[in-house]
Amino acid sequence: MKASIAAKSVAERVAAVNWVEIETHLKEAGFARLGALLWREECDSLRDLYIDTTRFRSRIDMARYRFGEGEYQYFAYPLPELVAVLREALYVRLADSANDWMEALGRPGRFPAEHPAFLKQCAKSAQKRPTPLLLRYRAGDYNCLHQDVYGDVVFPFQVIFCLSRPDDEFTGGELLLVEQRPRAQSVGQAIRLGQGEAVVITTRWRPVRGSRGYYRANVRHGVSEVQSGERYTLGIIFHDGK
Ligand SMILES: [Fe+2]
Repeated sequence: MKASIAAKSVAERVAAVNWVEIETHLKEAGFARLGALLWREECDSLRDLYIDTTRFRSRIDMARYRFGEGEYQYFAYPLPELVAVLREALYVRLADSANDWMEALGRPGRFPAEHPAFLKQCAKSAQKRPTPLLLRYRAGDYNCLHQDVYGDVVFPFQVIFCLSRPDDEFTGGELLLVEQRPRAQSVGQAIRLGQGEAVVITTRWRPVRGSRGYYRANVRHGVSEVQSGERYTLGIIFHDGK
């Protein structure tokens, strides 16, 4: 019962975000800060799940795949209630922007208004495994620039939550975005997130307005080296994986 009240509260916080402003920021910059959506005790409860192996379907040692240093775990279904509520509530708010982006990019495919319908699209492409994940970085850990694409069906946005307190619990460990524009040098952004704070980033591409309509910029993300302490993040990816 207590968990359900918390879930309702977090859905209300998502609804209270100024989504018109977010849509504008996304169009202008390719990412947008959502503000602090999770309370400290919620961040702590999510972090505490990390050691509960029954909650996860797989654990990735990043060094093993040369993805970086550190590790992350993909949640198993059923997702923890807080994660499930965030995934559905955020999807609903981002689906229209996702469709606008596909149109601007000249890409086929439309995203349904509700997340369960989108998961059915994923399942038709054999993408049935949950992709929300918890990441744990310790001093010296980092994440190489990458894109979280797990099949043909790709939702153009994902949301990252910082679960640890910068300065108090870790230093370094900025979220990095690198945008590669055709026939131009890449542009980098370093995003520092407070505890509970969320940012929407593009999964793979973003439309950039040029003199002859929109063109496609390729965006990769990663994490700079954590200098001290421990940094946990929650990644909400909306498409399922193979
Ligand atoms: Fe990622």
